[in-house]
Amino acid sequence: MDLYEYQAKHLFGEHDVPVTPGEVCSTPEAAHGAARRIGSAVVVKAQVKTGGRGKAGGVKLAADPDEAHDRARDILGLDIKGHVVRRVLVTEATDIAEEYYVSFLLDRANRAFLAMASVEGGVDIEEVAATRPEALALIRIDAIEGVDEAKAREIVESAGFPEAIRDQVIDILVKLWGVLVREDATLVEVNPLVLSADGRVLALDGKVTLDDNAHYRHASHADLVDRDAADPIELRAKEFDLNYVKLEGEVGIIGNGAGLVMSTLDVVAYAGEEFGGVRPANFLDIGGGASAEVMSNGLDIVLNDPDVRAVFVNVFGGITSCDAVANGIVQAVGALAERGTPVTKPIVCRIDGNNAVEGRRILAEFGHPLVEMVETMDDAARRVAELAGSAA
Ligand SMILES: Nc1ncnc2c1ncn2[C@@H]1O[C@H](COP(=O)(O)OP(=O)(O)OP(=O)(O)O)[C@@H](O)[C@H]1O
Ligand SMILES: [Mg+2]
Repeated sequence: MDLYEYQAKHLFGEHDVPVTPGEVCSTPEAAHGAARRIGSAVVVKAQVKTGGRGKAGGVKLAADPDEAHDRARDILGLDIKGHVVRRVLVTEATDIAEEYYVSFLLDRANRAFLAMASVEGGVDIEEVAATRPEALALIRIDAIEGVDEAKAREIVESAGFPEAIRDQVIDILVKLWGVLVREDATLVEVNPLVLSADGRVLALDGKVTLDDNAHYRHASHADLVDRDAADPIELRAKEFDLNYVKLEGEVGIIGNGAGLVMSTLDVVAYAGEEFGGVRPANFLDIGGGASAEVMSNGLDIVLNDPDVRAVFVNVFGGITSCDAVANGIVQAVGALAERGTPVTKPIVCRIDGNNAVEGRRILAEFGHPLVEMVETMDDAARRVAELAGSAA
């Protein structure tokens, strides 16, 4: 999970990384109030989970509360690379002498972490990295040893930070490493880390990616989940503990096992070309040991997606036997009818593997007019594409 700048800087603050005071606001009036409380010139910053905000007009200086109000009004509602700005961070403006770049990230290929640092930070770091890679120091970090003072010194020397501020930067690097380890992050980036005119080193921007697999260890991280921005169907799927990803097509997909679901997406996209270019509407893996209840939750999620015109249930019974899957389908269809939202979209099922004969018998006996069985995966993909295509 990526964090917003204001959330990242809040974590920095908790780990004693120096940041400027600020408040997150969703109206120009609130920005006015925040600027008044901060009591100095401020910077109004778009809070969106994408880079290049400054260049897109999403970072503006404001000399006083009235200006903060107006800059917030300009920035709120801006579309930055497809992200609509709903909140701004109003934070104390810093008189910047120099801008640097530092980050720690997980380096999966090398089973280690990587520190990156440059004394040429700021909005053009990508260009520095591309055109003058020697200006960006890369230091491998052993996952067990981590970053102590000595390692931080190595990073600082290698990047060529000015002598006068080395101790400050070393201290910040050790603390940022603490953020990565203690918060279970896979990325901690500060761009720019600045030297202020009065000689202090501060994190003026922050980017943090938390490791979702470690979520259970951090009760407080639940508050960081961005419920407004997330797809509502994805949120519901998460509540059911389902592996669901919304896509842009029209064919709902349910399968067991990530590999099978991925190949189902491919065969549906391929078959769909013949029927006006219909495509998969989602990825949904109900897992290896899926019970009837899980199938029922899955169907509930997929059928409630307004983009879906037909559903493909593609199950290879292994740990889950096909009769359980078939019962899940029957139960789900029944439960939806009971709730007053009966199934109105065709469901094409291909079930094979463990106990397939019994599974198919259950579905045949069910005899629902919208539930069809097709023997092979390719034929089922073709049939569901045809149904979705003709429902347009
Ligand atoms: N508190 C501040 N005081 C003064 N200047 C600031 C402050 N925050 C940001 N700036 C200036 O604005 C520039 C851009 O800010 P920031 O790094 O937060 O956004 P960005 O780099 O455009 O966005 P992203 O990091 O998402 O690409 C900084 O490099 C800095 O020069
Ligand atoms: Mg930045």
